[in-house]
Amino acid sequence: MGKPASEAVVPRHVAIVMDGNGRWATRRFLPRVAGHKQGVESLRRCVRACVDRGVQVLTVFAFSSENWNRPVEEVSGLMDLMVGALAREVPRLTRDGVKLHFVGERGGLSEKIAAGLLKAEAATATNNRLVLNVCFNYGGRWDIARAAALLATRGEAITEASLDAAMALSHVPDPDLFIRTGGEQRLSNFLLWQSAYAELFFSDKLWPEFDEAALDDAIAAYQRRERRFGQTSAQLADNARRDPQAA
Ligand code: IPE
Ligand code: IPE
Ligand code: MG
Repeated sequence: MGKPASEAVVPRHVAIVMDGNGRWATRRFLPRVAGHKQGVESLRRCVRACVDRGVQVLTVFAFSSENWNRPVEEVSGLMDLMVGALAREVPRLTRDGVKLHFVGERGGLSEKIAAGLLKAEAATATNNRLVLNVCFNYGGRWDIARAAALLATRGEAITEASLDAAMALSHVPDPDLFIRTGGEQRLSNFLLWQSAYAELFFSDKLWPEFDEAALDDAIAAYQRRERRFGQTSAQLADNARRDPQAA
């Protein structure tokens, strides 16, 4: 049973696998890179919509560790798009109060991109309406293995808490709502650790078509879910009666 609309809570952290750019382009007889370009427009719209709705953290999957296996011209097109977006988007993000974080292995990126990421992060560091984590050259397994290796190097015990603190999204709470567009129902190595209790929402819309109304549908579906975190419905009702603020 979900909560009535009057109590509806906006998810604090939304994570999105932005999938379907290639099919969007192919259906229009365009090169796949044109779909990725349209995907950047869709992301811009989504960021704005999240700011307007009071979402505090948005984490998006822009390029996976596995996406290097795509044709070279598509990979280089994606890298060029990133360079262009880094040069262009910062003023708008700052106007909207968006603080950027890039998450992923930077070692494999060109000097130009690596420098651009640092510059964009520094330029938006004091913005405080929305944290936007862009996962680029990211994989959930990479994240877990890297955190474990870090703890081993420091000689620290591996516990849930220490691993969590060593992972790439330790600066934000876990995602509440995990959206994947493009019709596939899989995680594709995104936020494996952090999504343990995220509500999953799969949309058939291709990412370039995912607009404000589609985001609102996903948020409304989230608001109808009951998040039990292992407890029973009766326990939740009891908790809510005892502490209406926390429910
Ligand atoms: C997602 O769209 C964007 C990236 C993986 C970079 P796709 O490019 O996977 O689009 P489809 O799934 O082929 O349609
Ligand atoms: C996941 O989409 C990666 C991104 C959206 C960046 P893919 O299109 O690469 O995933 P698979 O290959 O269909 O699992
Ligand atoms: Mg895809």
